[in-house]
Amino acid sequence: MNHRRALRAAVTIAVTGALAAAMTMTLTSTASAGTTLRASAAEKGRYFGAAVATGKLSTSAYTTILNREFNSVVAENEMKWDATEPQQGRFSYTGGDRLVSHAQANGMSVRGHALLWYQQQPGWAQNMSGSALRNAAINHVTQVATHFRGKIYAWDVVNEAFADGNSGARRDSNLQRTGNDWIEAAFRAARAADPGAKLCYNDYNTDGINAKSTGIYNMVRDFKSRGVPIDCVGFQSHLGTSLAGDYQANLQRFADLGVDVQITELDVMTGGNQANIYGAVTRACMNVSRCTGITTWGVRDCDSWRGSDNALLFDCNGNKKAAYTNVLNALNAGPAIPTDPPTDPPTDPPTDPPTDPPTDPPAVGCSASVSLNSWTGGFVATVKVTAGSTGTSGWNVGFTLPSGASVTNTWSATASGSTGAVRFANVNYNGRLGAGQVTEFGFQGTGSASGVTPTCTAS
Ligand code: XIL
Repeated sequence: MNHRRALRAAVTIAVTGALAAAMTMTLTSTASAGTTLRASAAEKGRYFGAAVATGKLSTSAYTTILNREFNSVVAENEMKWDATEPQQGRFSYTGGDRLVSHAQANGMSVRGHALLWYQQQPGWAQNMSGSALRNAAINHVTQVATHFRGKIYAWDVVNEAFADGNSGARRDSNLQRTGNDWIEAAFRAARAADPGAKLCYNDYNTDGINAKSTGIYNMVRDFKSRGVPIDCVGFQSHLGTSLAGDYQANLQRFADLGVDVQITELDVMTGGNQANIYGAVTRACMNVSRCTGITTWGVRDCDSWRGSDNALLFDCNGNKKAAYTNVLNALNAGPAIPTDPPTDPPTDPPTDPPTDPPTDPPAVGCSASVSLNSWTGGFVATVKVTAGSTGTSGWNVGFTLPSGASVTNTWSATASGSTGAVRFANVNYNGRLGAGQVTEFGFQGTGSASGVTPTCTAS
């Protein structure tokens, strides 16, 4: 497959010592001792995810690992264009809905993948061009993002639109031939359809500062300067036997543009370096405060699209590999995402004035702070829970919502009530916090939550 050949060819820079030297710690380390990927990531305010083939959700050996280790999922194929709109205007959400239900039942967030891509288009779209294709593509974005509205943490709005090699230019495709503005049109349509989802651009062979990643960097910078709604960049990170020494620096330069970054499809070819590369990628994400999570492209080696590469964290029998241990250790050793809301004002949607610091006295039990991302008619609240000096075995956070506000969706917590006095209890994996440890949950709502303050009770 050309795609795989291309990505392997591009992963050529051998790095060992240089990599360690380049991974300068920029944040204070807060060592902890989570024993699963999901718990350890959550303690640091991040997620750890896996791509899921929904057909495997009925295999208990598979779901046991998925539910124990991961708190985020992405559909390996079920939310792609060919799956969701097999005939023009006839939408099919069976696989995607099944994954969302599984996620909601198990305290997992969902990445949506992918609204527009030059591959895995339905036959009818492959045969279209010009304004007919543009209209069909934007309608697809609108319909699919509307169907999943409120259930998606981040959407890959556009996948793999840049060319490999040294041009730094867009890839030729039927979508690209509808006009260079197809990507921004897609982002605007996605924002209108689901204002609560983070909107990402996602690509591969971007694992360091190179011509392709720089082309994307320039596009993101341009989008931010013109107010095109983009919130995040996904780095697929289908890796070979070495890792670019500037992998972290590349993530950081995107973060410095004011977008989140995520490792979205991580898998690493077997070889002496596999475990080291997994550890280095995890450390790089932890060292970038806007790197919000990591997803591996599958669960066990035999689930991987990379066939005999044995590219994942669990072997075919479900045993943890050396790479798993390195990832877990890196999550536990890494810094937490700083509790303050980001300081650079997002250009869209309009944000509320900064919330006051929590007024509670220093917590014996726990304290909570909220950061709001609001737009006309809705909001997403991200809530940080910090354990007091005795730690927690569970927590409960209350808000009094203004009249007219209503909670429509919650992640990493269980909500009771949707209007007025609402409460959020920990889920099974994030209730137990050591002294000073931090975890995060979120909820989306309609109306305005401007000015709300949380109160935290520990048990
Ligand atoms: C792959 C899936 O894993 C395969 O099952 C499918 O046959 C082809 O697509 N980049 C992407 C993913 O963004 O959607 C691809 O997933 C892997 C490369």
